Amino acid sequence: MSCLTTFNTSTLPEVYTDTLIIGMGIAGLSAGIKAANYGKVLIITKDSFHESNTEYAQGGVAVVLSDGDSFEKHTADTLTTGCGVCNDENVRILVEEGTQRVQELMEWGVRFDKQDGKIAFGQEGGHGLKRIVHAKGDATGKEILRVLLNKAKATPNITLLKDTFTIDLLSTDGLCFGAIVHSPNKGNMVVFASNTILATGGIGQIYRETTNSMIATGDGMAMAYRAGAILSDMEFIQFHPTTLYVAGASRFLISEAVRGDGGILRNKNGERFMFKYHPCGELAPRDIVSRGILIELKETKSVFVWLDVTHLDFEYLKKRFPNIVKMCLAFGIDVKTKWIPVMPTAHYMIGGVKTDEYGQTNVNGLYACGEAACTGVHGANRLASNSLLEGLVFGCRTGEYIGHNPMLFQKQVISNKMIEDNIHKKINIPDVRNSLKSLMLRNMGIERDQKGLLEAKKSIDFWASYVLNKEFSSPASWELQNMLTVASLIQRAADMRQESRGVHFRTDYPYQDDAIWKKHIELCKTEK
Ligand code: FAD
Ligand code: SIN
Repeated sequence: MSCLTTFNTSTLPEVYTDTLIIGMGIAGLSAGIKAANYGKVLIITKDSFHESNTEYAQGGVAVVLSDGDSFEKHTADTLTTGCGVCNDENVRILVEEGTQRVQELMEWGVRFDKQDGKIAFGQEGGHGLKRIVHAKGDATGKEILRVLLNKAKATPNITLLKDTFTIDLLSTDGLCFGAIVHSPNKGNMVVFASNTILATGGIGQIYRETTNSMIATGDGMAMAYRAGAILSDMEFIQFHPTTLYVAGASRFLISEAVRGDGGILRNKNGERFMFKYHPCGELAPRDIVSRGILIELKETKSVFVWLDVTHLDFEYLKKRFPNIVKMCLAFGIDVKTKWIPVMPTAHYMIGGVKTDEYGQTNVNGLYACGEAACTGVHGANRLASNSLLEGLVFGCRTGEYIGHNPMLFQKQVISNKMIEDNIHKKINIPDVRNSLKSLMLRNMGIERDQKGLLEAKKSIDFWASYVLNKEFSSPASWELQNMLTVASLIQRAADMRQESRGVHFRTDYPYQDDAIWKKHIELCKTEK
């Protein structure tokens, strides 16, 4: 067994549950609420109950509810943005079940914003019409998480544990039966479970510049890889075009909905530029806007572009985007009169643990949903506001499926022994972490090429040679080990895909090559 820690399950404190869910964002909680109808559920998070990408989601949830919309239209927008490699059947499920799930969220208490007594729909890039429901203006994720957490807390079959870091999955012979977890008070514990769901979110923290929560270090993907799961589409990392570029503002997102409401992108010289790159201008799909910005930055020798909302009604902006207006003001930018400095940063991991339409991975008893999973609904480029929807729809499906198809639990005694590396006694974890984050931005950002990818491989392999085979005892160190593992998977997939598609842009192969590359790259420890 390949693990980050030495252990023997027979000597550790034990916990038993029918379903273990690792992650407390929209995906984990949705799965848990459904699975609790059939058995005991334990949901754990490595941080506070709220800390997650879900908590920070701004723009909203894309869903077919508005007048004039249809499943066909939402499906078509999702497929077009996905650049030919979406899983069509899973897109159909996403869109059709999405409506019912969003209605269920409202029944559970989520209050989406209204206008004249009716749900208000926002516009975002790549959508043919207004179909984004949002809450508290630009705090959609917070509102959804509030309701899901309250519902989970009130469900007798669910136990929620915070500050509990999952180090590794328990797995042998293609079967997963729980995980080794660590809490500061209790140390290491073993959780035995019939079913284990990874809902650990994304990887944004692997990059120096990101919109993501501090939790997004790719732990679930790395532990799934160690357990023999297949990871798919790891080269597809979406950059969000508009992150506030002010030192100290920790890369706060300026929602795409701001452009949906008329925000204009201007280069250093004040010129509007997006129509040079796409007929939809500022509302082109994200990959095109991010690349357009990158070109302007190079041409004007700047590190940011401007987002101009000074022509929009300020009273409306304050109501629709209260947190964005407040955050800008806190850094001296009164959006009524001043342009907002923005730049693209790493935002969303399209790839992840490969699953079928019920969240099943290739490892028995192991499931994945949300950003940690790869259902193929996003293809090579995610349509804005489709990821909360994915977490909700596929989280619920996974929880339901497990309820109807429980694995038979068999307790197993297993152990793992790390071979100590005595040479590198002292490793400065933050230093390696920062070096990795800078490397990822430089060599595996919006644009890639073979030279940069090979250079990245050398550095990642070198750091891995003394970080991966060392036994650590703190979450920060385990996170670094996971980040290096995921970085290496991204590098391999990005190097292999010798074409440009969606968010993966190779300057040395600038065209989409359907004859060879209209397919997925899958990586697994016993290579596929
Ligand atoms: P998360 O919500 O990130 O939850 C992951 C959970 O896993 C956390 O509880 C974390 O603590 C836990 N975890 C991770 N590793 C471990 C471990 N080792 N042990 C134990 N627990 C662990 N999408 C939209 O559709 N619409 C939007 O408007 C939107 N806005 C966004 C704005 C921002 C700033 C960001 C960052 C993302 C946005 N997204 C949006 C994307 C969307 O929010 C995420 O893709 C989605 O919330 C992911 O949900 P999740 O449940 O998969 O993961
Ligand atoms: C945003 O509000 O721009 C984020 C939407 C998303 O990532 O889907």
